[in-house]
Amino acid sequence: MANHHRAVAARMARVLAPQAWCLDVGCGGGELPLALARLRRDCLVVGIDPSASAIARGRRRARGIAAVRLLRAGAERLPLPSAWAHGATAIGVIKHGVDARQALTEVRRVVRPGGWLWIYELDPAAAGVQERFSGLVTDSPAVAARILQRFVLPHSVAREQLREQRLAAGWTIDEDRAMPDLPLYAFHLRKPA
Ligand SMILES: C[S@@+](CC[C@H](N)C(=O)[O-])C[C@H]1O[C@@H](n2cnc3c(N)ncnc32)[C@H](O)[C@@H]1O
Repeated sequence: MANHHRAVAARMARVLAPQAWCLDVGCGGGELPLALARLRRDCLVVGIDPSASAIARGRRRARGIAAVRLLRAGAERLPLPSAWAHGATAIGVIKHGVDARQALTEVRRVVRPGGWLWIYELDPAAAGVQERFSGLVTDSPAVAARILQRFVLPHSVAREQLREQRLAAGWTIDEDRAMPDLPLYAFHLRKPA
């Protein structure tokens, strides 16, 4: 679990109403759902990810934790009812290869009116992105540089592009800013009530 998972979970824990339901889109091995469950056992967080191996890894870690459920699914078609979630997160998920417009529309369906979606993405244009990315994923600067060049930057979606897709999918913006201590930008979106 990385610092940004803990930071996002802490922020969620402060705003979620008692017994709220949330969705983590592209949850990987369940890092964010598990971080939230440590702070708020009263809430239910459903993580979805199309990767069978990531879901299997997450389920092993979440065994016995009733506040976390992990499902294999893509963001473009969620196996969840409409207006179900109080809030949703997507960390490092909206990239080339994901139909961002469809994903944002589908998450909007699942979130309640007045509910929110917090998106965090790597900002390819952030100053010192390489050094700061290193601290996010591994302590080895050489390994981090290879991951960044090979896997992350070629798939990153420019901030402006995501802003346009957000508008097309009918979300309003609560916050749109670079994170002060991480090479990430944050879009906090809201479904109109
Ligand atoms: C960089 S990882 C981030 C994982 C997790 N959110 C985290 O913060 O640790 C990106 C994740 O997005 C998932 N992903 C890829 N395509 C997706 C899609 N269409 N819908 C939802 N998740 C997807 C991948 O399987 C992967 O687990």
